[in-house]
Amino acid sequence: MIRITEKEIQKYEIEHINEVRRMAPECTVLLKSDGTLPWRQKGEIALYGSGARKTIKGGTGSGDVNVRYFITVEEGLRNAGYKITSDQWLDNYDNIIINASKEFVDKNRNEAIAAGINPEFYMLGKALPEPEYTLPLDAKGEAAIYVVSRNSGEGADRESIEGDINLTSTEIRDILAANDKYENFVLVLNVGGMVNLEPVLKIKNILLLGQIGTPTGDVLADLLIGKSYPSGKLTMSWANIEDYPSTEGFGNPDDTIYREGIYVGYRFFDSMNLNPIYPFGYGLGYADFSITPNDFEIDGDMISLSVVVKNIGKVVGKEVVQVYYSAPEGKMEQPYQQLASFAKTKELEPNEEQEITVSFSVDTMASYDEEYATYILEQGDYLIRVGNHSRNTHICGILRLNQNITTQKLKNICPGWIFDEIKLEKRKFSYEKESKERSVAKVILLTPNQVTCQEKNYHDIPVELPQKDFCSWEEVKKHPEKLKNFVGNLTEEDLASLCVGSGAESTGELSSIIGNASEIVAGASGETTHRLSNQNVGALIMADGPAGIRISKKYKIIDGIAKACDDSPSVIMLDSEIKNEQNINVNEEKILQDENKFYQFCTAIPIGTCLAQSWNVQLCEKIGDLIGSEMEMFGINLWLAPAMNIQRSPLCGRNFEYYSEDPVISGMIAAAVTNGVQRHKGCGTTAKHFACNNQETNRYGSNSIVKERALREIYLKGFEICVRQSQPRSIMTSYNLINGKRTCNRTDLLTSVLRDEWGYEGIVVTDWFSTQRFLDDSKNKYAAGSSAGCVRAGNDITMPGSPWDRDDILDALRNTENNYPITKAHLQRCAMRILHCILFM
Ligand code: BGC
Repeated sequence: MIRITEKEIQKYEIEHINEVRRMAPECTVLLKSDGTLPWRQKGEIALYGSGARKTIKGGTGSGDVNVRYFITVEEGLRNAGYKITSDQWLDNYDNIIINASKEFVDKNRNEAIAAGINPEFYMLGKALPEPEYTLPLDAKGEAAIYVVSRNSGEGADRESIEGDINLTSTEIRDILAANDKYENFVLVLNVGGMVNLEPVLKIKNILLLGQIGTPTGDVLADLLIGKSYPSGKLTMSWANIEDYPSTEGFGNPDDTIYREGIYVGYRFFDSMNLNPIYPFGYGLGYADFSITPNDFEIDGDMISLSVVVKNIGKVVGKEVVQVYYSAPEGKMEQPYQQLASFAKTKELEPNEEQEITVSFSVDTMASYDEEYATYILEQGDYLIRVGNHSRNTHICGILRLNQNITTQKLKNICPGWIFDEIKLEKRKFSYEKESKERSVAKVILLTPNQVTCQEKNYHDIPVELPQKDFCSWEEVKKHPEKLKNFVGNLTEEDLASLCVGSGAESTGELSSIIGNASEIVAGASGETTHRLSNQNVGALIMADGPAGIRISKKYKIIDGIAKACDDSPSVIMLDSEIKNEQNINVNEEKILQDENKFYQFCTAIPIGTCLAQSWNVQLCEKIGDLIGSEMEMFGINLWLAPAMNIQRSPLCGRNFEYYSEDPVISGMIAAAVTNGVQRHKGCGTTAKHFACNNQETNRYGSNSIVKERALREIYLKGFEICVRQSQPRSIMTSYNLINGKRTCNRTDLLTSVLRDEWGYEGIVVTDWFSTQRFLDDSKNKYAAGSSAGCVRAGNDITMPGSPWDRDDILDALRNTENNYPITKAHLQRCAMRILHCILFM
């Protein structure tokens, strides 16, 4: 591996930070505007709020990135030439936070000690709720900004309390007062998910800046002075927490019942005719746009809708064209409308027009009928709608079916639990405006022969490869078709080791709760076995995301092993004896002069939600490309991203890593990011967490109880789109169970659906420690996953791996009493896929 010098690092870092700075405005959402933005002039500015100086670039946990540079809001404004007049307020706030943090940490530490839990583990994901205080808002100037921040991360969910989902009394009081006091005022949200803005909705301007990585503060300054403009749209409905049907029962430690079925997010609000505070797809710009439908056509099974978008504002901007459909209700209940596809315009000058065509295939609109295990399009009228958010759509075409059409014949999976989904008192489709639109919309008749029905074959039982014609790895590299011979000659021990991460070979000291288990790249989350290195088979190195590449900033090579020596949480958590022994001093300043130390500075990119808010697949592909180039540079093969669970409730602590409440946008964005990363030789993504990882409370042991229609149409759909459009090299199963069984042990999910139905060709890895024995304690209702069960189900690698994972696999091979008996053929099937991945990396 090339060890990088300080100089090289600076060059690419600057390029990448500038690239993020150029792209990030598209991820920001203007929620409210009095028309005064952008301000254009700089000058004096009063800056207040939790995120002014303590700006958050991304959440905590494995989703955090260890960066060298980060520009806070305060720094960004100063860099742009603003004179900040509220230094006193900011200094006082610092003291308040220092004390509140200390109290918070002490309280949690004591609770952890009392409960006999490792304090770091106990605090994982817990964020300090914003405290209350009184500080005068007396800074001078005509313009003011108030920055609200919120943080969250893996291990804990958010709470519907003041200081988290709700604003504190202090924030409400000060935001309203600043709005009155200063002529120009913007509330800036430096948050990773929803905050309840109801008490401050009357203020002049609200900008959802989000958490957009390294240049966050510079991006805000660019937006304020009009060097750039916001053009993002929400990918989750922002409503009162009590109004989400998922709120009831959310976060139950053992069993969480998905009673709302397919009615997630706008599918619920629109069907109930409830107005969220801000609807799905909503966002203003500095400019305004008109969207005029032009043509509606069908060619074979592809529907195309063309519209003309015109900038009717006074400044440049971009608009998102969102296409929805309303399916007719027959046997299957249907939401009011569902997103079919979308597209973003180029930058449009005032008065400039662009014709945009949005296409999608007819089977996008099919529904899963559990009774017959088929996807069907029921007869009736499919209303095709276009608009710029879910509460502003217009019928622009009708697709008429005179008979039912079956689009896929499958088999049922994840046998359900008995429970009733909620029954909605839905609004009626045909009110006046819609009747008018319907009467003039172009109608196209769809005939069944335009759609081919796909019938799937399932191959659950693998066939053993014979041990003949030995072939070296060098030969396999030249003749990949000989991989079978190579695998046929591997011993059972070799095969078992391949199916377990290299943690099975380590002394244990490298592993940490949030991933630091690679010997080759310091701070990477894990790697595959080194057992075959004597045959020249390399290991796959995996590092976290999704807000950049999460590896250590600084490291040393000790006995040939890369050891992190920076201030990242995984190093801080290392035992102090180990730190002393290895001479790791995280506060060393002179590190750049030490020949024995090396650097890996990665760029923090916008968090998952912000990327999706761009509604721009080209932009997301470019971001993927940027990540791919850093992966190549630091020797990472698999990026543990994109994270693409559905934002079922705003309370999920990891929503900021995820894209949306809607599977279509999640899938399309994930595919774009993957395509960007996988353009780079040796680099692949890991779409995670497959599937239904929608809460963090008891994340290792929670059981998501969901009916198959909702499972397929909402929770699996995004992964399906990503697999079909981009073939990510890897997929990570989730910690949770689905309907009583661990996802990593589910053959129906991992083999029948993922491979047989969707044609997935890559590898599947577990989430970290899914099979760890600490999960098997008496407090947990459900037992840990089984590594043998992983092999049997088609989850190829148990990560980060431990000796007992490998032993369990060997036991399952030899002992029919094992809960998940396996054959050598099961192991060879996984080995073929893993080695295939290594070969083409
Ligand atoms: C997280 C994953 C992450 C893994 C490796 C787990 O705790 O759930 O998202 O990729 O750790 O760090």
